[in-house]
Amino acid sequence: MRRGVRVACDIVRRVYNYGWRKLWTCLGPVLTGSQRKAISPISRETWDAQYRSGYWARLHDVSEVPHNSMIVGLLSRLKPNATILDVGCGEGVLFLAIRPYGYKAYVGIDLSAVAIMAIASAADDRTTFIVTDAEAFTPVELFDVIIFNESLYYLRDPLTTLRRYISCLAPDGLVILSIYHDSAEMEKLVRDVQAGLSVVADVKLCTPGGVWSVLALSAGASKHSNGGTMKDV
Ligand SMILES: C[S@@+](CC[C@H](N)C(=O)[O-])C[C@H]1O[C@@H](n2cnc3c(N)ncnc32)[C@H](O)[C@@H]1O
Repeated sequence: MRRGVRVACDIVRRVYNYGWRKLWTCLGPVLTGSQRKAISPISRETWDAQYRSGYWARLHDVSEVPHNSMIVGLLSRLKPNATILDVGCGEGVLFLAIRPYGYKAYVGIDLSAVAIMAIASAADDRTTFIVTDAEAFTPVELFDVIIFNESLYYLRDPLTTLRRYISCLAPDGLVILSIYHDSAEMEKLVRDVQAGLSVVADVKLCTPGGVWSVLALSAGASKHSNGGTMKDV
């Protein structure tokens, strides 16, 4: 009996020390069946519930800085002062990183109204946020840069949708992707993109928080990846 109480106290102490938020980060997705893994569409209701619960607050963590900074670096190096469409923009973490560098126009779209609400106050005459399904959305204008920052693999058919968005690029425009490597399916998605599309920049970021591929693609004829190099377009 006394041993049972000791074990229970020990569990409570560990949970307390580890932190409820970290515990939710580990268990939440398992309990709601929505781990960030493989290619798996998640419903609008689940996204809203997760944003409301604070589960995606981790996108503001320092572990997300490397791939976000790489996207900002590619943008400012290859397409300064661009018109930008950010597909699956979430609570605008990337938008806030882009804003200091400037842009001609920014449109952020996301399935989750809760996520969009968190950044909606940043809207102005050059900045728009729209709640919509990226798989149904068709831009009315062409964009210099279209970004999928950790959003592509939530789409039902990522490559088909990616090709559709590539056709929405302005002349010499770029699509920029960030893909987190956490399963064989993600690795395959990166390989399929590298093999089937025209890769302008291909960067692999190995960090203590995980491995990310950041790729820039042009609308040109497809060719194989130039493995970690970058060229002007
Ligand atoms: C992992 S979060 C990344 C958010 C943001 N890009 C970032 O890195 O901070 C993925 C985002 O994709 C959005 N998303 C998922 N499926 C979508 C769809 N079909 N259309 C639009 N957005 C979608 C989710 O609502 C979520 O905000």
